Parts: sequence; C-alpha cells; structure tokens
Amino acid sequence: MKLLITREIPRAGINILKQYKDIEIDYRQGPPLSEKELLTAVKDADAIIPVIPDKINKKIINAAKKLRVIAAYSVGYDHIDVEHATSKNIFVGNTPGDLTESVAEHALALMLSAGRRIPEADRFCRAGNNKYWNPMNFVGPKIMGDTLGIIGFGRIGQHLARMAKNGLSMRILYTDVNRHPEAESLLDAEKVELDYLLENSDFISIHCNLTPETENLIGENEFRKMKPLAYIVNTARGKIINEEALARALKQNYIAGAALDVFADEPEIHPDLKLLDNIVLTPHIGSATWEARLQMARMAAENVVDVLISNKPPRYLVNKELMKETVASLI
Ligand code: DGY
Repeated sequence: MKLLITREIPRAGINILKQYKDIEIDYRQGPPLSEKELLTAVKDADAIIPVIPDKINKKIINAAKKLRVIAAYSVGYDHIDVEHATSKNIFVGNTPGDLTESVAEHALALMLSAGRRIPEADRFCRAGNNKYWNPMNFVGPKIMGDTLGIIGFGRIGQHLARMAKNGLSMRILYTDVNRHPEAESLLDAEKVELDYLLENSDFISIHCNLTPETENLIGENEFRKMKPLAYIVNTARGKIINEEALARALKQNYIAGAALDVFADEPEIHPDLKLLDNIVLTPHIGSATWEARLQMARMAAENVVDVLISNKPPRYLVNKELMKETVASLI
C-alpha cells in the first residue's frame, strides 16, 4: 500500500509509519508539489498526508483511483474537498486539539507585538536609527484591563481568553454559533453580536473556521465599526478578512494596527500590506511549536495506520457520515 507524504514532517510521524512494512512511503521533502506533480503522485496512492498549501480538490481526488484516506497534517481542512471525498467513500482525517495552546500563544504574541510595536522598533534599531532615547518613540497601548473580542470561541479562542483574563485582566467578549456557559462563568466572558464586539473591543482576535459564512466576514463596514485605537489579529484563515479593506483601514488609520499569520492567497501577501508599518506579518506559524508539530505528525500517521492497517475509520475523522456506513457494513 502506498502513502504519499507531500512535504517534510517531523520524524515522530514517520517513525510510526515505518513500523508497518506493508506501507510503502513516497516521502517528498522538497518544495511544494505543483498541481501537475500532485496529480501524478496521487495516481497509485492508497493514502495521502497533505499539508495546508496542497489543494486536494476534485481533480486530485478523481485522479487518485485507489485513495482510501486523506490524513491532513493540520486541524483545518478547507484545502480539501471533503464533500467530494465523502461521495467517493474516502475518509478525511485531521489533527484536532494538538495546536490549541500553540496557536493561542501566537495570537497573544501578535497582540503584544502589534500593540507594543516590537517588529517596528526592531527594524528601527537594526537600521541604526537609535541615536538617543526619545520619549515619543514607539508609544502604544497598555494592554492590561483592555477589552478583547474573540471571533470564534472554540478551543483556541477559549485558551486565548484564559491567558488574557488571567494574565492581563482583560474583559472578554466573544461571538460564536454556540454559547459557552462554562467559559462564560469562569472568565466572565460575554457572548455578544459581532457589531457590539467590533465597537467595544480594543483587541480583536479571529479564531473561527473558514466557511462560506465567514469568508470576508471582516471588511470595510466592519473596520469602520472598530475603535480607532483598536487592533485586529488573525491566526485562523486569511480569507476571513478582506485584505484590501484592511490595507485601507491601516493606511487611513481608522484602526490602529493589525497582525496576520494567515493570508487570503498564501503564500502571497497583499502588496499594500507589506508597505505598512502598523501591521505585523508572520508566515502561518501559529502551530510552529515543537510540541504541536510532533503531535500533528503523530496524529496524521495514526489516521493512516487506522485505515490502511486496521481497516477502520481514522480515529480523528472529519467526514463522520462515513462512520455510519462503515458500521452498517459490519452488521
Ligand atoms: C491548522 O492545522 O489548521 C493550522 O492552520 C496549521 O498551522
């Protein structure tokens, strides 16, 4: 049985897979595969471990005639046509829960970096501009006691809220499709409408999934509703923010700043954003901790082993509809 791994991943996952002699690994460790290369590589694959930039669309799925499982090396699976995979009885697995603390920590780091203007000050020092201490240089907000608005109050959003509440005494507002009464009582978090969150938050951090409903959720109108001294952080998916509107809001200073770890058209970054000083940019590294990346590799490998060796659905299954069919077929 053949497994295609499209990019280099931590050895922790490879070591699990190597225990099974029946799994032949086609391990690509170079730059991302083009669509053409991917089409050829999936032809005889029984399983794939793709990474976020690999678009596992209808065309790729149709070309993979033997495919039984797509074991995403990520929590997010918006790069995979799950509906089409399901229609072909192909399992889709992901790695839930492995990067909660890591992404939340990155969001907090970005809030602090943008607010306290750390990358801008770093550039200033390196350019040799630090000639004397200037009382007016790099002044930003004190964050203690400010209001944090969290869009999407799942595991990552709640972990950020805990750090912000317990470490910085922040007031927590959130929007989510569900209410989270336990977090509300532990953190004094308030579920509010998006407009209220936009109008009342000093920092806004995005943690919802990318869906047709959340694509372009934050655009011109939303930036206009934010406080002029507010900051927005996105570590979820780039398309949730309209980048042109963001560039305008930052240029015309109707918000104070932003920090993005994800982009609408990764790895491209909107050229206007790169010219601005009041934005911090990082290349989708929210989960880039040793701990999270090891766990992602392990979970993706386990998903493959479950299907190819144990003949059962992956333990971290996305298209749960297929579980019913598997159970029914065993009766
Ligand atoms: C995920 O797993 O969805 C993350 O975005 C990868 O860092």
